[in-house]
Amino acid sequence: MKAYNINNYGVPDKVLHLIDVEKPEPKDTKVLIRVLATTINDYDWCLTTGKPRAYRLFFGIFRPRRKLKIPGMEVAGIVEQAGNEVTKFKVGDAVYGDISDFGFGSFAEFVCIDEKALTRKSDSMSFEEATSIPHAAMLALQGLRDVGQIKDNQKVLINGGGGGVGSFALQLAKLYNAEVTGVDTGEKLKAMEAQGFDNVLDYKKVDFTKSDQRYDLILDCKTNRSLWKFLKVLMPEGRYISIGGKTGKLLQMLYMAPLLKLFSKKRLHLVALKANKDLDYINQLYEENKISCVIDGPYTFDRIPWAIQRFGDGLHTGKIVISVN
Ligand SMILES: NC(=O)c1ccc[n+]([C@@H]2O[C@H](COP(=O)([O-])OP(=O)(O)OC[C@H]3O[C@@H](n4cnc5c(N)ncnc54)[C@H](OP(=O)(O)O)[C@@H]3O)[C@@H](O)[C@H]2O)c1
Repeated sequence: MKAYNINNYGVPDKVLHLIDVEKPEPKDTKVLIRVLATTINDYDWCLTTGKPRAYRLFFGIFRPRRKLKIPGMEVAGIVEQAGNEVTKFKVGDAVYGDISDFGFGSFAEFVCIDEKALTRKSDSMSFEEATSIPHAAMLALQGLRDVGQIKDNQKVLINGGGGGVGSFALQLAKLYNAEVTGVDTGEKLKAMEAQGFDNVLDYKKVDFTKSDQRYDLILDCKTNRSLWKFLKVLMPEGRYISIGGKTGKLLQMLYMAPLLKLFSKKRLHLVALKANKDLDYINQLYEENKISCVIDGPYTFDRIPWAIQRFGDGLHTGKIVISVN
């Protein structure tokens, strides 16, 4: 089978190579998936470039570790073969999921993965839509609902709202009738208005932390400013929820969050993703036409290095999707 192999850090086009490898055999609770669609994530950009350098502690100091040699963490496809202990699926089932807790490898024609990483795809969803969901929708849902405890009619701000998480977060916040402000830049702002953001702000022109507006919830996909600045624009009982960002700022959260509780009702939280936790709920919302997928692409399998560069250059709106056939 064809698969992308990475053996060094650098420019995606130079370090990712399409090679022939042996098709894996599923054993025990593993299934072999014929990959029909996959996505590009922040993780792929960091793994390919080896930056931020601190991530190399996980990826491998000098070059990516062996088990990361075939990257790709989200998949939608068809079960081609099943191990003898598989109970959830049968050959021919259409499935999707975030496979990162069980290994990687969706930048390939086939991937062999534990059945626990997968959920049955809703019939009305395309494979391209399905693969765009797990990571971004779970971060948005767990950030707003589980950690943020969003309530009806709140004022919500999504920092980095034009990306993969932002588009799902907007739609989920709208289920609570929230007034949603999105912060991003360039061409994305028009697309965000069209998606239904009530207000959009260009981070290159406006610093929302200096405005008089106050928010009940801030969902931050970038966490790139001093946390004091975010606290200033929160309502008295508001919550700031980071899903990721600059390492220094995230560390700052770890000691500031408990201290803050001593003198304020404002709260700081960091989301630790529980992969695939509520995909059945997202299937249901999709079938009820309450949620749709914002896709950049789909692009062809041979353009994966180009698509990773596109992600790094920040040219995408929504989730970058790759069709594989
Ligand atoms: N908590 C967890 O367990 C967990 C797990 C995995 C991933 N994550 C995190 O999830 C995040 C990925 O979110 P995503 O998929 O939505 O990313 P994304 O698609 O890259 O979206 C982020 C958006 O933010 C915009 N942006 C850049 N700089 C900004 C600024 N200064 N102010 C406001 N917006 C800015 C980007 O625009 P440009 O394109 O112009 O840069 C982009 O449109 C990452 O932070 C990652 O680390 C968290």
